[in-house]
Amino acid sequence: MTAPQRKNQVMLSAVQPSNKLTIGNYLGALKNWVHHQNDFDCWFFAVNLHAITVRQDPKELREQTYRAVATYIAAGIQPENATLFVQSQVPEHAELAWILNCYSYMGELSRMTQFKDKSQKAGENIPVGLFTYPVLMASDILLYDTDLVPVGADQKQHIELTRDLAIRMNNLYGEDLFKVPQPMIPPVGAKIMSLQEPTAKMSKSDPDPNASVFLSDSDDQIRKKIKRAVTDSGSEIADDDSKPGVKNLLTIQSAITGKSIAEIVTSYTGKQYGHLKGDTAELVVQAVSPLRNEADRLYQERQFLEQVLAQGAQKARERASQTLKRCYDRIGLLR
Ligand code: TRP
Repeated sequence: MTAPQRKNQVMLSAVQPSNKLTIGNYLGALKNWVHHQNDFDCWFFAVNLHAITVRQDPKELREQTYRAVATYIAAGIQPENATLFVQSQVPEHAELAWILNCYSYMGELSRMTQFKDKSQKAGENIPVGLFTYPVLMASDILLYDTDLVPVGADQKQHIELTRDLAIRMNNLYGEDLFKVPQPMIPPVGAKIMSLQEPTAKMSKSDPDPNASVFLSDSDDQIRKKIKRAVTDSGSEIADDDSKPGVKNLLTIQSAITGKSIAEIVTSYTGKQYGHLKGDTAELVVQAVSPLRNEADRLYQERQFLEQVLAQGAQKARERASQTLKRCYDRIGLLR
């Protein structure tokens, strides 16, 4: 691996600290971040400004933010290898977002699938922040001269908008204003689905607590949820799109063990759904239990977390303020 060269490439990603993180966040995102932290110049953060696009309880939001950071570290992110920070502690994010707002079009933002979904659920009064959410995300990305953004397939449209905005501004103000980032979408397999409705993505905001395994769940809760997972009619364990429930359990196993789905399927020849569920439950317990215990411990170490975040914010501000200054200069804003 050509690690020293790739360290020049910037990788950046973020998760909202709303609600508790799920095994979907861990297997689909966090685990991947940990894997890449030595290869790239990594920037990982909790996007609490994005979280307030829907109402949050202040105490919960604050605590979930600490909890998210504790979980990142427990999962193996090393603050000396990757810059770890909280979005609201780096004011440049909100500042660049305002500028980008002035170059974004109502039409393109109206076409964002996530906005259409979320605004439907928002009732009569749709917060403007829900509409401009992708602009803040573009700001997150462009501030760090990012090359690669590992995200789930559902975020690809937002990365495309980020690219469009970067290109649009570069055309107006010079090619070297913003680096145009690339999405890095993991193979379909890494997408973990709801345990109760396996055709929908596992979501930390799902109102049905049995639909998701949270990284803070006890071993017993994990076992119960996986044993209650919706499987499909029939009894054969196969990698088949008509069996999304079974496929999801196979995917979870594959994401934890690194084995291929085909290999796992073969090992279940002649076995029942009960075996698959029992084994999946144990694998998830083995993966989550040490992570939860370490996150619980770190979560109590408030001073340590605050120190990590203060350092992270300082590093982030050093980089972000350079980009922002470049942008102010080009546009003709005094700074
Ligand atoms: N919108 C992303 C999500 O919901 C979170 C996010 C915000 C993000 N800013 C980002 C992801 C920047 C990658 C890069 O998953």
